[in-house]
Amino acid sequence: MRLLVAGGAGFIGSNFVRRRLAERGEDSVRVLDKLTYEGRRENLEGLDSKRFELIEADICDRDAVRSAVEGCDAIVNFAAESHVDRSIESPGEFITTDVFGTHILLEAARDAGIRHLQISTDEVYGSIEDGSFTETSPLNPSSPYSASKAGGDLVVSAFHHTYGADSLIVRASNNYGPRQHPEKLIPLTVLNALHGDPVPVYGDGSQVRNWLFVEDFCTAIDAVLERGEAGEAYNVGGPDELPNIDVVRRILELTGRDESLISHVTDRPGHDRRYSLASERTQALGWRAQTPFDEGIERTVSWYRENEEWWAPLRSGEYREYYERQYGARLGAGDG
Ligand code: NAD
Ligand code: TYD
Repeated sequence: MRLLVAGGAGFIGSNFVRRRLAERGEDSVRVLDKLTYEGRRENLEGLDSKRFELIEADICDRDAVRSAVEGCDAIVNFAAESHVDRSIESPGEFITTDVFGTHILLEAARDAGIRHLQISTDEVYGSIEDGSFTETSPLNPSSPYSASKAGGDLVVSAFHHTYGADSLIVRASNNYGPRQHPEKLIPLTVLNALHGDPVPVYGDGSQVRNWLFVEDFCTAIDAVLERGEAGEAYNVGGPDELPNIDVVRRILELTGRDESLISHVTDRPGHDRRYSLASERTQALGWRAQTPFDEGIERTVSWYRENEEWWAPLRSGEYREYYERQYGARLGAGDG
């Protein structure tokens, strides 16, 4: 297959592209990415230029998207503004990229007569106290991020219902693994722990997430891309549900730090308490998560230990300013 991978220079997209090219000798990949603060050329370094190219462009740019689609058999869309805390600071870019940009890709896919696979999130269903969401659960997003992703999902479904477009959705739970930007809980905790800095835990840390190792998500994307039914959504949940505080404690153990680094800080506004997905529909395609949290987190901590040249540049500049805005006052007031 010749794939157009939008947002392929980010965390999950780059893991997907690397795996796909390594495992499928006949495939080629064209990445279209705006290279925002999350997207990095380094994430795609070393790939074979005969089978891979990177186009720096915005998914909202209709002409750039149309020319990038030429010759491709399918679009996989990872491109998004992806961080909940940033969506609370400034929602506009989220709505532009995650809703409007998605529709530009859908139009190009429809006109070219090719499949569009939308990469989405469990957060579109909102929070759930007990049980798990299925694909028929109503969308009930809470944050500007999840509302934008839900908007994108609805446009994907509308393109199938209205135009018969070959569009479908995969909704994953929280991913973790190599090359995740340090603004997210797991890499933030790993890097702060390695530096002996306080680790901010929102509220009491009892919020539950359904952790999915990024490689397991990539195998699910392959299954849905190749065997999923147009017009459908497919949930992909991780094998383990854990409260945030347990995740943080495990990382402190793996980095040889004690719990004195934990700093409980003011909670995120509108914070969803628990996410949980039922993934039977994706399992019916032959997919299974292979990586328990204990194994995935060890591999992730080792990766960050061994790849300082990847994360060192991210700890300065824009991220420092963001970190100060997000955590400066909260950590100052933290109860440690
Ligand atoms: P990420 O922020 O690391 O990557 C997003 C990529 O999109 C970056 O390379 C960025 O440069 C690019 N991008 C942003 N705006 C763009 C635009 N307008 N045009 C072109 N490119 C643009 O995100 P991620 O964690 O890799 O997530 C990838 C996708 O998976 C997102 O759609 C996200 O909503 C979804 N998702 C993520 C998780 C998770 O836990 N990380 C879980 C479920 C679903
Ligand atoms: P995050 O990685 O931002 O993913 P999401 O909000 O999309 O689930 O956060 C994961 C969980 O960790 C979420 O419940 C918020 C919490 N959290 C903290 O407690 N401290 C932090 O510094 C961050 C970034 C997140």
